[in-house]
Amino acid sequence: MAFDPLQQRGIPLDEQLRDWRELNVTPIDPDHADPYTRCRIITMNGIEVEAVLFSHQLARHCPDLEIKRQLARVRYIEAQQQKAVNWLLPGSSSVLETTIAYEQVAVDLTAWVARMEPDDYLRQAYQFGVLEDFDHLYRYANLYEMIEHRKAEKIVDNLTEVMPGRPTYLHHRDPMDNVRQPYERSVTEPLSRLHALTIMSAEQQTMNFYMNVGPMYMEPIARQLYQEIGMVEEEHVTHYESLVDPGESLWEQLLNHEYNECYLYYSFMETESDPKVKNIWELHLNMELEHLRLAAELFKRFDGRDPDQVLAPALPPPVTFEPNKGYIRELLATQIDCTTLGTGYVREAHERFTRMQEAVMGGEKPASERVIDDNRAISGREYRLETEGPHPAGLQFSR
Ligand SMILES: [Fe+2]
Ligand SMILES: [Fe+2]
Ligand SMILES: [Fe+2]
Ligand SMILES: [Fe+2]
Repeated sequence: MAFDPLQQRGIPLDEQLRDWRELNVTPIDPDHADPYTRCRIITMNGIEVEAVLFSHQLARHCPDLEIKRQLARVRYIEAQQQKAVNWLLPGSSSVLETTIAYEQVAVDLTAWVARMEPDDYLRQAYQFGVLEDFDHLYRYANLYEMIEHRKAEKIVDNLTEVMPGRPTYLHHRDPMDNVRQPYERSVTEPLSRLHALTIMSAEQQTMNFYMNVGPMYMEPIARQLYQEIGMVEEEHVTHYESLVDPGESLWEQLLNHEYNECYLYYSFMETESDPKVKNIWELHLNMELEHLRLAAELFKRFDGRDPDQVLAPALPPPVTFEPNKGYIRELLATQIDCTTLGTGYVREAHERFTRMQEAVMGGEKPASERVIDDNRAISGREYRLETEGPHPAGLQFSR
């Protein structure tokens, strides 16, 4: 039966507060957990971080003391949710292992969204971006083998392939060319808004993560690779956030945020394999239903419209983590040489792109290239995980 979050009753806000014991969740087992459980945790952490940051921005634009207090109360709960979710990650994983999991999320979540996205222009934005995070996964996997002497298949577990995508050095575009055209809020499918918010939040969290953990390494190649890929994640946040129609009022944006939280917790509750983690998705869904009700009240009061006018009549099919190998291979075969020009896409290196490339490279090979050369020199070959045959764009495995 279709699930309409606007028609469901959640946990009253007064009863959502948890004590330290309840927040002290048991982490997943790093050796036996389903890699996609870890992907769901990383995704929901990004969503909750966005919920907290967005609410702070909203509060800074809100002169009404009573509304500010209500935002603060809900935001405190969002912050507790973020703690409960992110603390499911086990402390025994290294930063680089978590990084590889972040890029696995970027690959399989963005590929799913691209497959489900009804709008051609928006789908193109996801197809474009996914080939870049796919390449980051390959660069970090080589760094991992080189400095931790382990293989990325231990983390991605054959669910996601590891091989070159659009080479990372080609991701450094002029910032002007990272801004896309937004969807039109009055005509877009409700699903498209949810997709844009989800991927924007996931990329934002990846950007924040790399900007914080990158300098914690001592190995120069690791420090430099995090710097380089960290800059690409800045480009990705710019790319995805520009898809959202800025004509949406802040109250409409709040409504979309809470609705999207309901959608994702519901999706993950439906697809979760770990029963303990599933309980958390279910609990948080029941909290979000109340956040959504409160956001809907604010929307009605300040926008004078009914939430039904902007939200879907029921939740779309659940967002699902599953292998996207065939889909990615098709994109590799057809779109690996794309770049952006203005708000569109082209296949040739244009003048502004070339100028940016020269400016950031400074006549040297960037870390994303050197990490492969260095690992070949140390391990005797580069690291790849090609489970479905040779590379579809002819980028051969080399020793
Ligand atoms: Fe939340
Ligand atoms: Fe990435
Ligand atoms: Fe990214
Ligand atoms: Fe929420």
